[in-house]
Amino acid sequence: MSVTSGKIRARIDGPDGHGPLQPPPRSTPVDFETRPAVTTTLLEPILRDDMLVVDRVLRESLASDVVLIRQVAEHIVGGGGKRLRPALLLLSARACGYTGTHHHTLAAVVEMIHTATLLHDDVVDESSLRRGHATANALFGNAASVLVGDFLYSRAFQLMVSVDRMRALRILSDATNVIAEGEVLQLLNSGNPDVDENAYLDVIRRKTAKLFEASAQLGAMLAEADPAIENALALYGAHLGTAFQLIDDVLDYSGDHEAIGKNLGDDLAEGKATLPLIRAMKVGSAADAALIREALERGRLDDFKPVVEVLARTDALDYAHRCAQAESAHASACLDALLDSPARQTLLKLAAFAVERTY
Ligand code: IPE
Ligand code: IPE
Ligand code: MG
Ligand code: MG
Repeated sequence: MSVTSGKIRARIDGPDGHGPLQPPPRSTPVDFETRPAVTTTLLEPILRDDMLVVDRVLRESLASDVVLIRQVAEHIVGGGGKRLRPALLLLSARACGYTGTHHHTLAAVVEMIHTATLLHDDVVDESSLRRGHATANALFGNAASVLVGDFLYSRAFQLMVSVDRMRALRILSDATNVIAEGEVLQLLNSGNPDVDENAYLDVIRRKTAKLFEASAQLGAMLAEADPAIENALALYGAHLGTAFQLIDDVLDYSGDHEAIGKNLGDDLAEGKATLPLIRAMKVGSAADAALIREALERGRLDDFKPVVEVLARTDALDYAHRCAQAESAHASACLDALLDSPARQTLLKLAAFAVERTY
């Protein structure tokens, strides 16, 4: 769908269909739900007030006099999400004793970068459901999603410059660059059944774990923590993010689509050789391996049921789950370097959540 198609026009035109809506003044913050964004009971008690500030920064930062930007941004950012990356940054800052206010700004920045990657990712993956709603690409078209994703990226950089810390800029510019590499690597791998575990891990460490790593590191950096503590938190984030994506890839075959707010089978339809499939090809019979190879090469949702049957026969989802558990255990072990505190305890619970999660 192009940005000038009927649907977009209907949204840009006034409700009576006569002429465009008056663009809101740029200073008007984008309107979205103000409920505490971290959806787990685990994070809400400790982060509620901080997350409300982060949501305010996000709302204000998404303001633009370009109506379509506000609409798309409101749709995706206001549509919920677990807000895990900002939570991670806030907890890390707190675990290191930070008492300033920059953590709210940088938490909003990592959520904006995450949201930009989702807008782009849903175009690339041709996904139609996200956070329980139609994706921005399904509603507004690919062009609008890509361009508003660019807006979010560049607004995130404006915001991080306002913090005026060169190290924050370095960490975040490196992270966004690595994420982009991960997504491109994944594109190169798509439809290729010969992708092995190492190649798969390389992709998920870049596309997902890197932003978790940066989020955790930034909290420590703001608090001017010891380099050893900063490194420990960065490594915690990297392992946590890897566990998180491993489970995401399990849920793509076994989750409840209402709970995860996404369609199952997107990975197969995109020809993504995720760990469950790689494992099933390795330990399954020749016939099972051939079935998965062909399904990956075809990249069709029609193959979903037989593929799930192979995954069950080969215990491949269980294997991926155990790999996620190992990553989560590594993440927790990194926290041995920190003095105990409620924030550290919550980081430990977050490591468990990454594996136990059903959404
Ligand atoms: C989705 O991340 C993309 C992955 C890295 C799997 P989340 O599951 O954190 O997405 P939201 O923000 O909660 O929607
Ligand atoms: C994560 O990969 C996307 C990014 C980190 C940009 P997926 O493609 O698995 O994420 P979902 O499943 O669409 O959320
Ligand atoms: Mg995707
Ligand atoms: Mg996924």
